[in-house]
Amino acid sequence: MYQKFDVVIVGSGGAGLMAAMQLPNASVAVLTKVYPTRSHTGAAQGGVAAALGNQEEDHWKWHMYDTVKGGDYLVDQPAAEILAREAIDAVYELEHRGLPFNRTADGRIDQRRFGGHTRNFGEGPVRRSCYAADRTGHMILQTMYQSAIKNQVRFFNEFLVLDLLFNDGVACGVVALEIRTGEIHTFHAKTILFATGGYGRAWRVTSNAFACMGDGMSIAYRRGIPLQDMEMYQFHPTGIYKVGVLLSEAARGEGGKLLNDKGEYFMERYMPTLKDLAPRDIVSRCIVQEVNEGRGINGKDYVYLDVRHLGAKVIHEKLPDITDFARNYLGVEPITEPVPIQPTAHYAMGGIPTDVDARVVIDDQWTPQPGFYAAGEVACVSVHGANRLGTNSLVDLIVFGRRAGKHMAKFIAENDHAPLPTGYEEHSRELVDRLYSSTGNESATRIRSDLQNMMIDKVFVERTEKGLRESLEGIDELQDAYSKVQLQDKGKQFNTELVEAVELGFLLDCAEATIHGALARTESRGAHFRLDYPNRDDANWLKHTLAYKGTGAHDVRLEYKDVILIDDPIFKPKERKY
Ligand code: FUM
Repeated sequence: MYQKFDVVIVGSGGAGLMAAMQLPNASVAVLTKVYPTRSHTGAAQGGVAAALGNQEEDHWKWHMYDTVKGGDYLVDQPAAEILAREAIDAVYELEHRGLPFNRTADGRIDQRRFGGHTRNFGEGPVRRSCYAADRTGHMILQTMYQSAIKNQVRFFNEFLVLDLLFNDGVACGVVALEIRTGEIHTFHAKTILFATGGYGRAWRVTSNAFACMGDGMSIAYRRGIPLQDMEMYQFHPTGIYKVGVLLSEAARGEGGKLLNDKGEYFMERYMPTLKDLAPRDIVSRCIVQEVNEGRGINGKDYVYLDVRHLGAKVIHEKLPDITDFARNYLGVEPITEPVPIQPTAHYAMGGIPTDVDARVVIDDQWTPQPGFYAAGEVACVSVHGANRLGTNSLVDLIVFGRRAGKHMAKFIAENDHAPLPTGYEEHSRELVDRLYSSTGNESATRIRSDLQNMMIDKVFVERTEKGLRESLEGIDELQDAYSKVQLQDKGKQFNTELVEAVELGFLLDCAEATIHGALARTESRGAHFRLDYPNRDDANWLKHTLAYKGTGAHDVRLEYKDVILIDDPIFKPKERKY
């Protein structure tokens, strides 16, 4: 089936919907493999940062400073300035669209503390996170979906995108599988935005939804577009033990603390000033160290998150969802019992490289790929560098989703549809037919579970050359096995086995780029901590990784691109202790 729109947006989370809002006069299709209100933005809990100063003095420049420092200086600083400045307006846009934020006594948006957000360039914590209890992402999604419906955006739910089309270098459409029928559809467009989210499902323990399989990143990578800084993957310190579901940092923002088997609030020992609100990479590593040194609970690989001292009233009012998660998943009552937690794969700082208008760029010269945009977790505009601050993901979505929409509005006014290339569905049909006809006897479930175990064993909070080399061999074997995946279900309608097999291919590509980048980066920076190279090395590594898919089965080509710094001494890279 063929359809034509001005704009096709792939992904119906915060970035995709925010972009759609900026295109009131265009025909806009949003393709999503789930239902829009099920998008993973809905899992974001603790808030969205903006220097509104509703609770105490704050300034966008302090927010920018925290973002750059928190990202361990792998941040493109002009992009961080835009993030921090425009966050304020973007949050008010959400408020005006009806988002039910918690309020101060005088009716303004309430704000709370989050890790790494400080006043006056690091002097002490500041209340910057605007929140709706511990379900901020959920509220963003509901609010924007209602706005999108009002704006007559066309939604194509349960469509899995398989390919991105180019004609002479200009993006001109996507090909998708309609999950309900098994039919292949082509969407012809003047411009395409990928807002497909991350790939946390590459790890066994993750806060990410089942849908977070790296679709957009992999599709771009297969089309010759590099993936940037994929080795920078964030592990959130407080995932529910074994399950991975997030227990928001808001719990620590409200005063919750981490506890070891000896009954010690151990973050006070590691980080006497910031304590439990130190950046996530540091807190995750401290937990791993506690476990490695035998202070995990009952000698096991977890510690406790303790919110008992906050009292039932604060817990009910400010942390209702996450305390319910503890009850439902673990049978633990957080009002009276500490909650077992462990670091969980949470967020990709890397992704498809873009400029500050969300235009995809394909090399170290910032050459744009005309018509192709990316925003949100799938993209790397490089505001998070090597480690994202909590609540900056939602800011990224709304600020750069909005900029994407505005730039696309200009693009479609100035350009016609590029014609579709010949044989535009061929690649997608081959991909699906190969899976249907394979007799290779390999199981996608087996490969996915081996991948997830390997990633958590060898590409986790602490990394070594040995582990990364083993994972490189592992990923090559898994890619080979993937070419032999055989389906048991040959049906067309709602063939979830087919969907999962296609997604697994995406996930393997993302893991491959991550491992190659991590092995090559012989330093520690932010979330990428190498036990064998424990220091940051600005002389050699203050640069972005660009991973290109090579032509051979296991080839990955790495190139590098300068980090953009600004000429202001306050933002000059400073030493950091690991
Ligand atoms: O802890 C949290 O609520 C997560 C927020 C984030 O990742 O931004």
